[in-house]
Amino acid sequence: MPDATTAGSAEGALLSLWLATAGATDFPELRGTVEVDVAVIGGGVAGLTAALALKRSGRSVAVLEAGRIGTGVTGHTTGKVTSLHRLAYTALDRTHGRSAAGIYGLANQAAVEHIAQVVAAENISCGFRRVANYTFAGSADALPEVRAEAELAASLGLPATFTVDVPLPFPVAGAVRFDRQAQIHSVQYLHGLAAAVDGGGSFVFEGTRANNLQEQTPVIVTTGNGTVLAGDAIVATNVPFGDHGRFETLCQPHRSYIVAAILDSPPLDATFISTDEPMRSLLTVRLNGVTYLLAGGEGHPATQQVDPASRHARLAGYARSRFGAGAVAYRWSTQDNMPQDGLPYVGPLNPDSRHAFVITGLRKWGLTNGTAAALMLADLLDGTRNDWAPLFDSNRAPSRARTGPAGVPAAAAADDRDGEKTRPKDVALPVADLQPDDGTVIEAAGTNTAYYRDQAGGVHAVSAVCTHLGCTVGFNRGERTWDCPCHGSRFDVDGKVIQGPATEDLPPRPTP
Ligand code: FES
Repeated sequence: MPDATTAGSAEGALLSLWLATAGATDFPELRGTVEVDVAVIGGGVAGLTAALALKRSGRSVAVLEAGRIGTGVTGHTTGKVTSLHRLAYTALDRTHGRSAAGIYGLANQAAVEHIAQVVAAENISCGFRRVANYTFAGSADALPEVRAEAELAASLGLPATFTVDVPLPFPVAGAVRFDRQAQIHSVQYLHGLAAAVDGGGSFVFEGTRANNLQEQTPVIVTTGNGTVLAGDAIVATNVPFGDHGRFETLCQPHRSYIVAAILDSPPLDATFISTDEPMRSLLTVRLNGVTYLLAGGEGHPATQQVDPASRHARLAGYARSRFGAGAVAYRWSTQDNMPQDGLPYVGPLNPDSRHAFVITGLRKWGLTNGTAAALMLADLLDGTRNDWAPLFDSNRAPSRARTGPAGVPAAAAADDRDGEKTRPKDVALPVADLQPDDGTVIEAAGTNTAYYRDQAGGVHAVSAVCTHLGCTVGFNRGERTWDCPCHGSRFDVDGKVIQGPATEDLPPRPTP
C-alpha cells in the first residue's frame, strides 16, 4: 500500500483510520502444499465470512490474503453495517421488480444480524455499535424520493420509517431512517474473523497472492511459494481473477474517497448518507479518546483520472463547514467493483464451473453484501437451499437494467463536476526533470517505462505495461501509485500489485 505520508501535499496521513488503529496480524506466508476442503482467495469480509461459516459446518479451509488481513477494500470502508443503501430499493424495484428489491433487503438485513451474532459469538472487540442509519434529503426537492424509499422499504419488511427529525448538526428536509443498524471497526472485525478461522486444521495465510487457479479434481491454487489443493475454491478478491475477463464487462471499478477529521464532540448515535449530489456518506467514531468524523464521497469510475488531493480537500471542506470539524487526521481512497445491473454476483466463477466460485460486484456496500454473499456460497457448498441465491446468481443472464443516480452511482457515469475533467495522459517528462514524489511514463525502444522519483531523489523504474491485459499505467500523484485506466489494477511505485485484476507485479526496469 502507499505509505502513510502526505502524498500529494493534501492534509492528513494517507492511511485508512481503521488500518492506522487496528494493530498488526502475523499470519504466515504459505510455503509448500496444504490440502483443505475449501480454498478461499481474499482475506476481506466476504472471504473470511465464508471461511468461518464453512469451518463452522465442519469444513477445513485455507484463506489466502495477498497482503495483510484488512489491507484490501474492507479496510477502506466507512464501517457502516446497514441494509439501507441510499435509495437502493427504489432503484431495484424500478429495474428488477419488487420481489428482487425485497430479497436484496432481506439478505442485507440478515447480514447485519449475522455480523452482530459473529461479534458476540467470537467475542470480537471491534467497536460494534447499534445505530440508526439515515438517507437524508438536504432540500425539499429530494423529499418525495426519500419518502417513497421509506414507504417501499417498510412495505418490504425492513425497519424503515420516514422522518423529519434527523440528528445532524445542520438542517435537512427529511430522511429515511432504518433502526437497529450498526457500525464497526472494519479491520478489527476482520482480525477477529481471521483468528476464528485459523487453527483446528484450517489456515489463514498472509503475504500469499494466488496467481493461478486450475479447476480440476482437486482444485489447484498456486501462489508464489506454495500450492493449495482443495475440493472447492472461492475467489473473493473484489475484482476476480480466473474468470477469463467475464466480470470486466459486467462490473466496473469505481473509486471513492474518505477523510477522517477530528471532532470536538462525542460521536453521534447514527450514520448518514445524502441523496443529494454531491453524495456524502457520514459516520462518527471514537477511538483512543479521539472523536472522528468520516466524510466519504467524490466517487468516479476508476477509468477516469482525477486529482485525489482536490477530492479529499472537498470532503475536508464539507466536514468543516457542516460539522465544525478540525484537522484531517487520515485520508484514504477505496476501489469497489460496481455491477452494471446493481446486483452482486455470487456463484460459479465461470459458466461451467462446478468447484470454483466467485463473489464480486458488492456495489460499495461490501460489509453487508459481502457477508450475505458469503452465507449464500456457504449454503451452496453445503447443499443447503438458500432463497436469496437465485437473484444474485453469477450465471444469470446479462440484464439491460442499469441502476442510476437515484439508487447507487451508476457504474459507468462520468464525473466531471467542478470542471475537474480527466487529466491528459502524463506528459513524457524527461526523468532528469522529474521533481521528488512525481512520476512519468516514457516510451523507448517500443515499450513504456514508468519512472518515479522518491522524496530522497532516488529513481524507481518499472514496466508501464499493465500485467493484466497490457494497458499503459498512469501515475496517481495523490496516492503515489501506478493505476491502470482499463480495469482498475493498481501498483505501488516499485511495481507491486496493490489491487487486481492483475496478479503479477510490474517488472523492474533499469534506471537511467
Ligand atoms: Fe486490465 Fe490493466 S487492469 S489492462
